[in-house]
Order: sequence, then C-alpha cells, then structure tokens
Amino acid sequence: MEEKIITSNQPEAPAKKKRIFSAIQPSGQMTLGNYLGAIRNWVEMQDEFDCVYATANLHAITVRQDPKKLKENTVNLFALLIASGVDPEKSIFFHQSQVAAHAELAWVLETYTQFGELSRMTQFKDKSARHADNINAGLFTYPSLMAADILLYQADMVPVGEDQRQHLELTRDIAERFNGIYGKTFVVPEAYIKKNAARVRNLLDPSKKMSKSDPNTKSFILMTDEPATIMKKFRSAVTDSEASVRYAEGKDGINNLMEIYSACTGKSYEQIEDEFRGKGYGDFKTAVGESVVAVLEPIQIRYKELLSDKKHLEELARNGAASAERIARRTIEKVYKKVGLVR
Ligand code: TYM
Repeated sequence: MEEKIITSNQPEAPAKKKRIFSAIQPSGQMTLGNYLGAIRNWVEMQDEFDCVYATANLHAITVRQDPKKLKENTVNLFALLIASGVDPEKSIFFHQSQVAAHAELAWVLETYTQFGELSRMTQFKDKSARHADNINAGLFTYPSLMAADILLYQADMVPVGEDQRQHLELTRDIAERFNGIYGKTFVVPEAYIKKNAARVRNLLDPSKKMSKSDPNTKSFILMTDEPATIMKKFRSAVTDSEASVRYAEGKDGINNLMEIYSACTGKSYEQIEDEFRGKGYGDFKTAVGESVVAVLEPIQIRYKELLSDKKHLEELARNGAASAERIARRTIEKVYKKVGLVR
C-alpha cells in the first residue's frame, strides 16, 4: 500500500477517471473481429473509465456510399453496439456527424499533418489499391479526422485493434507537434490494444485480418450471422495437415481459431490444447463455432428488439451528441484561439 500524507481535514476529491474515446465506421456489417477486437473492450471499459464512443460516419464517406444504406448502416451499428452492452447511461454515445467540431478540428489538424506521414499509412495504401477509381483527398487525410475525434475529447486512451496502431501513433505525433507550438492544448493519447484476440484473422486466408470487405463471405463471421451460418463458416475455415490443436508458428489457421475460442470462452491456449489432445480438427471447429454462437446469439436478440423502436434510438443518439458537444466545444474554442482564427 502506498502511504498517504493527509495535510488537510477536507475529504479527498475522488480521483478523476481517465477519458476513453473510440469509434467504429458504419461501413456495412460488423464482424467477429470488430466484436472481439474492439466492441467487447468498449463494454468492459465503461465501469472504470469516462467513455465517449461514436459511429464514425464521416470516415465512412471516404469510400463511395449509397446515402440510404449509409444511414441505415449507421443506425444499425448504433443499435448493435447498445445490444452488445454499450450503455448510453454510463457512456456518451453518438454519431460523429452530429457534432460539427469533428470536421472543424479535422481541418485545422490537417494543416499540422505532413504529406509524407499520410503517404506512409498502410490503410491508405490498402484502400487506395482497392478503390483505385476513387482515391479522394478524404481517404488520404482520414487519419487527421481520426486525430480530431480523439483530441477533441482530450482522451487519455483509445481502445482499438492492432490495425489502427499506426493511426494512433500519428495522432500522438500531431498532438505533440501542436502542443510544442502552442503550449499544452491536447492530452497525448495512448493506444489501448488488448493482447488477447486483438487480431482476428480471415478464416480462409489467415495471413489477412478478418474484414467484411473481403469478397468471399465465408472468410468472415458477421455479428448478425445466423447460428447455422456461423457453424458452416467455421467448418470451412482453413487449417493445416498436422491434425494437432496447438498454438505454433506456421499454423496460422489453427492459431486464429484458438484465438477466437480463447476469446469466447476465457480458456488459455494450454487449456485448449489439453481439451483437444487426440481429437481431430472437426471437433475443434464445432467447439469454436458453438462458443461464438453462445456469445453472439443474446446480442442478436437484443439487437432486433432495439431496432423495433427507431424513435428511441434517435433520442439516445441526440442526448449523447448534446453531451459530446459540450466537451468538444471547449477544445475547439481553445484551438481556434491559439491558432488565431476569428470567431
Ligand atoms: P474500423 O471501423 O475499421 O474498425 C473498428 C474497430 O474494430 C477493430 N477491428 C479489428 N480488431 C481485431 N480484429 C479485426 N479483424 C478487426 N477489424 C477491425 C479496429 O481496430 C477498430 O478498433 N478509423 C477507425 C474508426 C475511427 C476511430 C476513431 C477509432 C474513427 N475515428 C477514433 C478510434 C478513435 C476504423 O476505421 O475502424
């Protein structure tokens, strides 16, 4: 125990909770990778931290979207996150487009982000290869908008999957650069990347991350996939010819399934190896599928209930946005003043 020296008889103020910010793009359906890599952490962090969460719909338009579909996906994502346990009573939860300060700060931060830095972003390189007909400026400056999201709320920590680490590092560089010029303006945030199942791989090609943008639907599990579909997809997952369930180099398919099973059941790799010693991959794949169904089915039921009351969902997002706005305004006023922008 740390010794405390009490110098006054005033009761101690409760320690300020650390601020968390994170967001997810409403670009279609959420995968098991999004759930195990991100959403589940969001839910767990709510009791300990002061959390601000958003749907990143401004980020989503960096690839061409059908307007009706974008709106529908955004509302669905909002409902799915609440069904997963994001609690609007505990956390601030809203849509990025509802708080104008995100776009305002993004513009300012773009002028503190270098062309060379943005050119090195692997997500930009991947996405511009995939959308070669629409390599727009927004796709390129996307990380500056992400930095704005985080820095607006003075977030201490940002829970994300491994694939966002590079964007977080750039956010820190931008914050430090700005603070260096104008004096302390932004909290310099840290990436919070959980070790366990931080990276869920593609079921057919485990050299890639699980992503809903893969053309083969068998390569990913959607959070809204029917139980029978989930079981079928795991049955067709790529393994190897060794027929031994153990975590080892060169066994990417099995390693991925072990990661998923461990994340869904809480079992360690040693426990999993013991459980399936002498058994074939068929038994293992069935167990992995069942463990995923057990996690996703209750979320799916709650999701359907929530979507039956769209007005209620709108009200929750509006309230969340009003709370977000209050924090974001303070930061944007400070930034405009420091930079010398007339109000
Ligand atoms: P996005 O929408 O692609 O993904 C949302 C979150 O899910 C994580 N994730 C994964 N984790 C593990 N395994 C996978 N296969 C997997 N796929 C996705 C991502 O790391 C992310 O945490 N730019 C961000 C959204 C964003 C944001 C922000 C995040 C906008 N503003 C501010 C944090 C803070 C993105 O495109 O994530």
